[in-house]
Amino acid sequence: MFTQRFRQLAPYVPGEQPRDRQYLKLNTNECPYPPAPQIADLLRRFDPSRLRLYPDPTMMRLREAIAARHGLSPEQVFTGNGSDEVLSFCFYAFFGADLGTLRLPAFTYSFYPVYCDFYGIPYEKVPLTEAFEVDLDALCATGTAASGIIFANPNAPTGHFWPPERIAAMLKRFRSDRVVVVDEAYVDFGGESVLPLLDAHPNLLIARTLSKSLALAGLRIGYALGHPALIQALFAVKDGFNSYPLDTLAQEIGALAIAEEAYYRNIAARIAATRTRFAAALGQLGWQVLPSRANFVFARRPGIAGQTVYQTLKAEGILVRHFNPPEISDFVRITIGTDPQMDRLLAVVSRLWP
Ligand SMILES: Cc1ncc(COP(=O)(O)O)c(C=O)c1O
Repeated sequence: MFTQRFRQLAPYVPGEQPRDRQYLKLNTNECPYPPAPQIADLLRRFDPSRLRLYPDPTMMRLREAIAARHGLSPEQVFTGNGSDEVLSFCFYAFFGADLGTLRLPAFTYSFYPVYCDFYGIPYEKVPLTEAFEVDLDALCATGTAASGIIFANPNAPTGHFWPPERIAAMLKRFRSDRVVVVDEAYVDFGGESVLPLLDAHPNLLIARTLSKSLALAGLRIGYALGHPALIQALFAVKDGFNSYPLDTLAQEIGALAIAEEAYYRNIAARIAATRTRFAAALGQLGWQVLPSRANFVFARRPGIAGQTVYQTLKAEGILVRHFNPPEISDFVRITIGTDPQMDRLLAVVSRLWP
């Protein structure tokens, strides 16, 4: 009854969303603050009869808002149902056996290898440096065999960030006829975008999401920025699959949220300040906390397995994320919440592991 293709499918396992009790959720890098207040007004004003009609398949209003925010033209913007969908279209369009082997860091967003398996894309995992950094030199040292490169910057789950100059140097060394995707899901929390590199590098594509710094994970909006030829390719994939990935309401709320820059900049700054304070306090309790520019930290307590930390905290009603691969299994990834939420975690941690 099931195809071989299906039987071999190994789906991505997202961070858990349990309903059995009220948890403090620090496991999926959601935003602890609400979306911009104007969104509540929009929802109150929205005329439901508009939902009779299909949404705009070109998603133009939203793309115009994103383009205006980044000083680009709408032809340089693709939008999709979460950056997960945008990324999956990238894998379909730009990476494949006929072009070579995709190169990605050994530890980065764990959905990337899932897409590779889904589409049958050969890939090679490039180890992180000893300091848990994405090894840019090793990623681009591929000669002619690479079908492309993808990594997150800041990276997940480590939080490490490379400034645009370092990525520019990598792009100069890498072949210009293969696509390099930089996933900037967490860039607003203290990173710096590679946006200024787009003009000089038509093979560079940036992926972004409204799920993290724009507090809209439940709405599912992501986007890609790049040369119009790459954007057109993503539209072709979309139209080969589902012409209407973003509903009318999502398009409208997304366009409004993108324009509320001051509100969201303030939230991101608060989260970054909480991260600095929390990381220092956790360090004081004997934890190793990797430097992070994202809305999470990757941390371990020497001598205590990450799985134990995860399970013990869960029993206390606090969810963090643990990953099984042995190289990072000592660590847990902790999303930065509000100050009171992080204080609650610190109190539990200092009681459990004084
Ligand atoms: C690096 C990275 N990229 C993309 C995503 C997906 O985000 P979205 O909610 O837009 O699908 C995540 C989600 O955790 C992520 O960590």
